Order: sequence, then structure tokens, then C-alpha cells
Amino acid sequence: MIDYANAKLPEEKVFKDPVHRYVHVRDQVIWVLIGTKEFQRLRRIRQLGTTYLVFHGAEHSRFNHSLGVYEVVRRIIDDVFHGRPDWNDDERLLVLCAALLHDLGHGPFSHAFETVFKTDHEYFTRQILLGDTEVNAVLRRVAVDFPEKVAQVIEKTYENQIVVSLISSQIDADRMDYLQRDAYYTGVSYGHFDMERILRVMRPRKGKVVIKASGMHAVEDYIMSRYQMYLQVYFHPVSRSAEVLLNNILKRTKYLYEEGYQFIVEPVHFKTFFDNNISVEDYIELDEYLLVTYFKLWMKEKDPILKDLSSRFVNRKLIQYIDLNPEEEPERFHELKALLQEAGVDTDYYLYHDCTSDLPYDLYEPDVESNRLPIFLEMPNGDIRELSQESFIVDAIAGRMKKDHKVYYPKEILTDSNVNFSVREQLEKLLNVK
Ligand code: NI
Repeated sequence: MIDYANAKLPEEKVFKDPVHRYVHVRDQVIWVLIGTKEFQRLRRIRQLGTTYLVFHGAEHSRFNHSLGVYEVVRRIIDDVFHGRPDWNDDERLLVLCAALLHDLGHGPFSHAFETVFKTDHEYFTRQILLGDTEVNAVLRRVAVDFPEKVAQVIEKTYENQIVVSLISSQIDADRMDYLQRDAYYTGVSYGHFDMERILRVMRPRKGKVVIKASGMHAVEDYIMSRYQMYLQVYFHPVSRSAEVLLNNILKRTKYLYEEGYQFIVEPVHFKTFFDNNISVEDYIELDEYLLVTYFKLWMKEKDPILKDLSSRFVNRKLIQYIDLNPEEEPERFHELKALLQEAGVDTDYYLYHDCTSDLPYDLYEPDVESNRLPIFLEMPNGDIRELSQESFIVDAIAGRMKKDHKVYYPKEILTDSNVNFSVREQLEKLLNVK
């Protein structure tokens, strides 16, 4: 019987990659996993959701990113960890598979989708790994308990913390890949740091991944680039506006379905989601191509709200925002709501408060995020120190959570001649627009 876990391809395969130059594959298991339909589906899910509506280059997919994370982990274990006393090469295939498959359960436009349907990608990653899928069949050929082990690494419950922290910690292959990849595709100047240097100074030590103190400045650069990317790209208010539209399209569809509305194009792919009875098969049918196709077709629906929201999303007629925190300025918010209602706006779908802390926000915060593994430095004398104790820069930004409140509204109302002039005037005054 062949040893599937150690089976190598007759020749190394390479993927050309704009961020890491090449992604190298020698293992049969990795090659076959890439070819499964569940992994190929990730080509049809963008890494940054609606961000392409702001940074038009950001069309890269979770497929690109997943290959990148795999490659970063492969370099760490093959080029740096291999042969070191605290690392066991028996874990090699496990960590490579977990790296490749860590985002397998992401759905189309994950954030809005998960908010409306109360699903979560971590749950579906496990379902795809362990269910009746092509991915599961490949992993099971390695060993019966192998799919479960891969799931545990991704869920951070696997006993060897070195394996876990290569994929999820404050400095892991996932983040190192997405920061550089998102910077590359959005075209922004932040997000770059010396990953090669960081990889060279990573060491497995007594169940932890540590960084040699000589690499501290490269790590500071990485932390700063992460901080900049969050503020400048990930929380961009305009891509959040597109999220708001998505959110409300799905919310409206669900409402109409429950009300027994007669759709011209029935939301057949969503029915099990509305009924909260979702199978893995239903879930992997979904991708962004399918969602956008529905939105295009729903532009012809009779329901004015579904029709308008869909058309806005497809044609990028986004909704406007102002800086407003309804908790701090409740009167201003209520006045805005009342005026919009007076103008005939359905505020359930066209007035939306969004706070960035609702989005994934994980700046470096050792006190707040006790469940996240901190970054450890190994000092020349062998002592292990937590990064912010050594670095002034990291210490200065650690624990600073900046919340950003925005309220979204349809700006077209201000120039709509069907709306009472004095209502429009009061809105203009309230919104401080001319
Ligand atoms: Ni990822």
C-alpha cells in the first residue's frame, strides 16, 4: 500500500504568484486538494468582499490568498524549522493542509451574509472538512482521523500550539499573506514589510513560535502596516456602504419570502437559509457569481425596495454617509430618521448605523485579546519576552481601539423634486451638506 501522506509528485508544480513569486507544490495530497471542487469554489469568492467597489484592483480571491498562506507556511517549515529540535516533521503535512484549507468555509460577501443568515464560516469550514465532500475524501486517505486534526488546527484546539500559531496568532502566515496581497491588489503603499526577514528569525521553542530579538524591527514594521491597512483599507466607509446595501438586499429578500411575495425570480438557493435548514451541499453552491446574478435579475422585480437596492449594488449607486454616533447624538439621529420618513423613505432599509467594531477588528491588543497568542521575542540570553514590553512603537499602539461610527442615508432624496422643499432644506441643514 502506498503511503499517501508522503506521496510526492513526479515533478514539483509551481503556481506563478504576484506576491510570493512562486507557490511550490511537491506533495500529492496538496495538489489533489487544490483540484477539489470545494477548493476551486474559492476562486469565486473575493478576498476583500465589496472593497473592489472602492479600490478597483481588489478583485483577488480567497483562492489566491489560500495558496499564499500555504506557501508562507511551507517556507517556514521547509526552509527554517526543518531539522530544528523543537519541530517534528511529522506535523508537516497537517500544517500545510490546514494552511491551504483555513478559509474553506467562507461564503460569498461573508460579512453581510453571515449577519443576515446568522451563519458562520468557521462552522462551515468544519462541515466541509468532515462532511461528504471531495476534500474530506482526500484527507481521509491520509488517515481516518486526519480531517478532524485539520479542523482542530484551524479551530485552534489542536494540542501542538506551534502548529496552531503558524496559522493563527498575532504574527501568522494568514496575516502575513493577506496584508501583502491586499496591499498589492488595492495598490496602496502601506501593507508592505520584510516578510523574508521575519521568516528567517522565526523559531520553534517549547511549544511556541518565537522571533529572535534581532528581528524586532521587521516585526514592528509588520504591526504598523497592519494598523495602516485596517484604517485605510479594511474599514473604508465606502466599501462599508456597499456592505450595507448587500445586507439590506438579503434582509428584504428574507422578509418578502416570509410574507409570501410572488418573486419573478424565486430565491431558490436561499430557501434553506431562510428556513434555517442549511446543508453543506446548499452552502457550497453559493458564490459571488450566483449572488450578483440574483441581484441583476432582481433589478426587474416588482417590489420597489428589492429592485432599487439590487440596482444600486449592481450599478454602484452607493448610499452616502455622515459621521454620526446615534448613542452620542440621539436627537440628531431621530430627527434625521423622522425627516427621511416624512420624505417617504423606508428607514428600515435606507438608514443604517454602522460601527467598525462590528467588523473583524483585531489590532494588536495584548490586554483585550487574551485568547490571541501574543508575539514572543527570544532575547540573546534565551529569555522570552512579549513584544510590547520591548518595543516602544508596539507599546504605543497596543490597546488603542478606534471606533468609527457612520450613518448611511440615500443622498438622492436631497435633490428629489417630489419631496417637500422644506423637508429637503431641513435635511440639508441637519446633514451639513450644500
Ligand atoms: Ni485567511
